[in-house]
Amino acid sequence: MATEPAGASATPLAIAVDGPAASGKGTLARRLAAEFGLSHLDTGLTFRAVAAALLNSGSDLEDADAAETAARSIDLDALDRQALSTHAIGEAASRIAVLPGVRAVLAARQRTFATQGSGAVLDGRDIGTVVLPDAAVKLYVTASPSERARRRTAEMSARGEPATYDAVLADLRRRDTRDAERAAAPLAKAADAHLLDTTGMDIETAFREAVGIVERVRAGRA
Ligand code: DC
Repeated sequence: MATEPAGASATPLAIAVDGPAASGKGTLARRLAAEFGLSHLDTGLTFRAVAAALLNSGSDLEDADAAETAARSIDLDALDRQALSTHAIGEAASRIAVLPGVRAVLAARQRTFATQGSGAVLDGRDIGTVVLPDAAVKLYVTASPSERARRRTAEMSARGEPATYDAVLADLRRRDTRDAERAAAPLAKAADAHLLDTTGMDIETAFREAVGIVERVRAGRA
């Protein structure tokens, strides 16, 4: 249970949730937002929306000017998770995510989102390290590559997308490497983030752990 409604505090409450693909961070972030009465932004969708805009207009994924223009114009309150969740868009998003100008535009917009109303939960790769370094609570959610590949394969199959475990695992490893090794805001655990390894946990268990961390931090006990 939440200690107090987030709206009761004068300053917006910001919760940063980072981690690699298919770690469970998105589901946890969405549920934490509902639990604490906060808005939620899946920042991966913001990169995906930029990538989709370039793909739709036939622009080159290396065209930094076109990508920055798209980053300025996407609507953060109308990101279509369903339409943006394809494998091709995820792959393109990982490629445009290396562009520093795109990252700067999106980070500024993500920061503005986090400070509105009673606050927000943002999930992504660099929220605790770059976007919201002063977030009240930071979680770094991870799971073993094999467990993440199992989850992602099941998700894709459920959506009717062709998926084999081996291909998904190889793809996740490639994406992890690209996200962790890029020069601009690589995937990393902030020094003051709380590590939540969800390997072997079902979503309910992981959610209870995450709520516990948030409550301990807010009560000044962590
Ligand atoms: O979480 P996702 O699969 O929807 O993210 C798509 C890509 O966007 C991912 O490969 C890396 C990038 N990304 C990022 O660089 N920084 C973020 N805060 C979120 C996503």
